[in-house]
Amino acid sequence: MAVLVTGGAGYIGSHAVAALLERGEDVVVLDNLEQGHREAVLGGKLYVGDLRDRDVVDQVFGENEIDAVIHFAANSLVGESMKDPGKYYHNNVYGTLCLLEGMNRHGVKRIVFSSTAATYGEPERVPIDELDRTLPTNAYGETKLAMEKMMKWFDIAHGIKYVSLRYFNAAGAHESGRIGEDHNPETHLVPIVLQAAAGKRPHISVFGDDYDTPDGTCIRDYIHVSDLADAHVLAVERLRGGGDSAVYNLGSGNGFSVKQVIEIARNVTGRDIKVVTEPRRAGDPAVLVASSERARRELGWQPKRERLEDIIRSAWQWHQAHPNGYNGN
Ligand code: UFG
Repeated sequence: MAVLVTGGAGYIGSHAVAALLERGEDVVVLDNLEQGHREAVLGGKLYVGDLRDRDVVDQVFGENEIDAVIHFAANSLVGESMKDPGKYYHNNVYGTLCLLEGMNRHGVKRIVFSSTAATYGEPERVPIDELDRTLPTNAYGETKLAMEKMMKWFDIAHGIKYVSLRYFNAAGAHESGRIGEDHNPETHLVPIVLQAAAGKRPHISVFGDDYDTPDGTCIRDYIHVSDLADAHVLAVERLRGGGDSAVYNLGSGNGFSVKQVIEIARNVTGRDIKVVTEPRRAGDPAVLVASSERARRELGWQPKRERLEDIIRSAWQWHQAHPNGYNGN
């Protein structure tokens, strides 16, 4: 049996594909390559197509013996979602509907879902627990919450079991050096800081230093992308073993401010990184830190690359080997 990975050519999806291949799984990838990179798919069978195309979905399920899906295919930029929410509802929510209906047509009963800490919004307490209030402060998080809820009703009606993984801030790159983070445009803190360290940007803009945090900048919980990837493999195993639907946070439990990330990047790279303070970015909560106790307990998940220095070092190695990402050198 094969695992279908939608969005498997993207940053986190490609690391999940690598983790599945390392465990000897048969992998099928469906990606429209809007954000993804063909070169990021290290193996398996790649279909280039869109989830919203019923013929493509039927072809993928029809041509392969798929018993589980890992669903990454989505837009995922907080800032963009505030300017163009329709794009997020169409690709994320409608795309997920098309996928679930396709799974139902083809009798596929297991899905692992790439969700986000952005489903919580401004947390009532930190670290955030899975049972805490979900009140997204941005359209991106709202669409991911809608996708989770859709899965709940497809479970109740059709017995499609899901594991929703709410990640905090993914960073770092695969230890092989072959895959890493390459978005266009890049909006995420760690790769932008490293671009500034490499002299590819004149400075890093810090979006707001007047938050209610010790140094005034936003605090996030950074987790290595390969640790996230491992959790997906464990979630597939849980569902194959007859486990019920569940929601898990995936984070390190440690918060770092934007200024701290920049300082650690200075140490890791040995480069000067110029900082310019700018106004707050719309939709950014002040603090997002996870409690991942449930994932550790129920999935047996154990992050292996927990120090932020090590996470940033792996991102820096990827950046130095691929200064222009997948496109050229
Ligand atoms: N930031 C800057 N300057 C930049 C880029 C980011 O100051 O140039 C700040 C942001 O304002 C934020 C922090 O760095 O405070 C992290 O920003 P990212 O864009 O790297 O990540 P986000 O926390 O906004 O979002 C990420 C994922 C989302 C996910 C969220 C959950 O992109 O998919 O983490 O925590 F929902």
